[in-house]
Amino acid sequence: METKTKQTGIAKLEIDGTVFELPILSGTEGPDVVDVSKLYATAGVFTLDPGFTSTGSCESQITFINGEEGILLHRGYPIDQLAGNSGFLEVSYLLLNGELPTQTKFTSFANDITQHTLIHTQMDRFFDGFRRDSHPMAMLTGAVGALSAFYPGAMDSSDPDERYLAYIRLIAKMPTLAARIYKYTIGQPFVDPQNDLSYAANFLRMCFAITAEPYKTNPILARAMDKIFILHADHEQNASTSTVRLAGSSGAHPYAAVAAGVASLWGPSHGGANEACLNMLRQIGDVSEIPEYVRRAKDKNDPFRLMGFGHRVYKNYDPRATVMQKTAEEVLGELGIDTPVLRVARELEKIALEDDYFIEKKLYPNVDFYSGIILDAMGFPTEMFTVLFALARTVGWCAQLNEMIEDPTQRIGRPRQIYTGPATRDFIPISERS
Ligand code: SDX
Repeated sequence: METKTKQTGIAKLEIDGTVFELPILSGTEGPDVVDVSKLYATAGVFTLDPGFTSTGSCESQITFINGEEGILLHRGYPIDQLAGNSGFLEVSYLLLNGELPTQTKFTSFANDITQHTLIHTQMDRFFDGFRRDSHPMAMLTGAVGALSAFYPGAMDSSDPDERYLAYIRLIAKMPTLAARIYKYTIGQPFVDPQNDLSYAANFLRMCFAITAEPYKTNPILARAMDKIFILHADHEQNASTSTVRLAGSSGAHPYAAVAAGVASLWGPSHGGANEACLNMLRQIGDVSEIPEYVRRAKDKNDPFRLMGFGHRVYKNYDPRATVMQKTAEEVLGELGIDTPVLRVARELEKIALEDDYFIEKKLYPNVDFYSGIILDAMGFPTEMFTVLFALARTVGWCAQLNEMIEDPTQRIGRPRQIYTGPATRDFIPISERS
């Protein structure tokens, strides 16, 4: 990746009377950055920013979020346009390659994915090692890490062709792994991919077809599934993507780096929020209970938070939530479901958005607020929700990992710290300790 930052100014930092000059760099959109990479070498001090609230880890040309305006761009294209006019595999090509594909390039890319959807037959036995009631994310974390054991070929991250093959295998096999994990938890036989189906339709069939009877995919649900994958594909330097970049910066191969991303995504503050949000909506149960839960969410002494609300970057409506809400209404309308959780979600969103606490702290629904309602209506158990998030985010992880590997300025990630532990002291033999 060739850098496209421009130096547009100088920041002056005075320490003990000495002024240090730091370059100010500008990108295409968003805040300028102060380049502190030479700060320690010139001033002998580190910066400290535990949650990276003000710190960029890299230059990237893949995704841009304007949190104040609620804007999300993938390679410059607004998410609502991609969700409304494109498909997940086309968006995957865009994220990986930087441009929307011509028909010829798309056909070749889609064929590459199709040719790699099957998994090694011995990998099917891998699942037998898990208890049937294992959390699906526990199985996915293990299965993705195990891919390198079954596909030892594409392991050299420094080789572009091997990297591409690893990305294709990961994107192609995630739906097969996710469907097998679901089938394993319900004790049904695995259903293999079918090459004449679209990516999303193939996934739905592998999950919901039973070998005893024919299965017909509902095109509305397949389109909704594809749209949900688009909405989860990439999102700048979020926790799991930063995990993938850091893991990959050591030279760890793509399967290992993506397995680290799966593990990070599992957390309830991150990708686990869709599962936690639906559980919360069920716990609330009825619109009459909403005021008590909103009170609890505002109580500093109560650890309860409104899952599916708030975001590190968005201080406005998450544009993905807008598309997700519309998709939820479409899917539930198509299925003729008027689930109580949808009524609770609509009312909770209305109350929260009018509440001073949420307005003052700029807490809006995020991508996880409505996704669980759709997935629940489609028949997925709550524990599978984050697996689907990981399935979709795999292409974003691969695109970001590749950008990091191809960035000439990137080195092994190794943050520093401020140390506040004991100063140097001598060892005391146990016989002399009190
Ligand atoms: C995802 O980074 C990404 O891009 C992630 C993601 C992606 O696509 O990769 O978008 C996917 O992870 C979406 C977020 C899903 N998580 C949730 O829905 C869990 C609930 N949300 C919160 O835990 C929280 O909002 C975070 C984790 C999402 C963001 O946390 P921050 O940026 O560290 O904000 P914070 O915790 O410092 O909160 C700021 C204030 C705090 O109050 P004060 O200490 O200032 O008094 O807002 C409060 C918080 O207590 N607050 C909430 C709240 N979220 C924040 N209060 C009640 N309910 C909430 N949901």
